[in-house]
Amino acid sequence: MVPQWIIEKKRDGGALSEAEIRAFVDGFTDGSIPDYQMAALAMAIFFKGMTGEETATLTDAMMRSGDLVSFDGWPRPTADKHSTGGIGDKLSLMIAPLAAAAGLAVPMISGRGLGITGGTLDKLDSIPGYDTRLPIGRFKQIIADVGCSIIGQTDRLAPADKKLYALRDVTGTVPSIPLITASIMSKKLAEGAETLVFDVKCGRAAFMRTREDAQALADSLTRVGRALGRKTAAIITDMDRPLGRAIGNALEVAEAVETLRGEGPDDTRTLTLELTAHMTVLGGIHPDLETARTALATLLDDGRALDVFRRMVAAHGGDTRVIDDPSRLPQAQAIVEVNAASEGHVTDVDALAIGRIVLQLGGGRTKTDDAIDYAAGIDRLVQVGEHVQAGQPLMRLHARDASLTERFIPDALAAVTLVPRRN
Ligand code: URA
Repeated sequence: MVPQWIIEKKRDGGALSEAEIRAFVDGFTDGSIPDYQMAALAMAIFFKGMTGEETATLTDAMMRSGDLVSFDGWPRPTADKHSTGGIGDKLSLMIAPLAAAAGLAVPMISGRGLGITGGTLDKLDSIPGYDTRLPIGRFKQIIADVGCSIIGQTDRLAPADKKLYALRDVTGTVPSIPLITASIMSKKLAEGAETLVFDVKCGRAAFMRTREDAQALADSLTRVGRALGRKTAAIITDMDRPLGRAIGNALEVAEAVETLRGEGPDDTRTLTLELTAHMTVLGGIHPDLETARTALATLLDDGRALDVFRRMVAAHGGDTRVIDDPSRLPQAQAIVEVNAASEGHVTDVDALAIGRIVLQLGGGRTKTDDAIDYAAGIDRLVQVGEHVQAGQPLMRLHARDASLTERFIPDALAAVTLVPRRN
């Protein structure tokens, strides 16, 4: 197999054979195909696309580049969800324990945040003692004991994706549906869950800005999942506005705990129930979505989902006292209220602007090795449809010092659109 012939075939719009795709991925993983040839192929795929069959083969080859976690013979059905990432998206923290409380086994391997998009691992790292770097054997033991576990990606899980993503990041080839599909799915499939539910975010702070692009990614993810023998569903959700009222790692853990208590903002609770309902229906726990929503709401309201979360945190070595007393989570030195300059109806809260503020307050990273301030972020954020009086708070900013919080007050005011009531 001559690598340049494969590149030329894709460059000219041809469909690659299974043998060609596997040879290329294997050669790239073991280093016999250099980065520059993989980058050229990625660019050819970016321009010419891939058929569903090619995308499934690419995904399978990348998945098989490392270890595969297996739950064969387990008594409970296995399921996971994946979100393409958004502002204030702390749903994994509720969905894993809720789905486990309903009877699923949930193996969840999550990532860190980059840019404005937060990552579940950073949120968990803000819980003192919680260890996200457990070996796969311990991960499986916790799932057997508790019902769910959330850890970080290991070097042995889909290593071809790790290498390829780093290359795509610096060669302008990230926004390609076949490449995104193979990247997301190779990791999720290697994790071993039989059912995968996708939350594809759409809007100004999402990876996919338009409904058409989000739908195309959702279709590609579900198609490839089914082609490779998994049960899949995808829903497209809004990312023009932040999810919930808290954005920032420790602040989001506090809001997740509130939601697990049966409280929390409506949008957060509703989407938690919706995504988990798809998991439990596909996983065979509930017969239909309506039954699932009702049963899952009870598990949130009666504390059973919170109990699973508590046991998961304990099994990972985390300090469970943060659940009863959120003041034990990392706390910012400076907290400032941002108050409305005039009375008005909230008609918009710009998720992109909010994400950028949180990043600059110290709550995110611009490079993968940047340090992060777990306490930084925004809470008590107003939501669309609410009414505020002049002088009432729109949100609170949290950061390590007052000069930082003060600096972002004008941006925070600009992120919220208030329309005065007409008399
Ligand atoms: N997330 C991934 O894991 N991979 C992509 O290519 C894009 C988003």
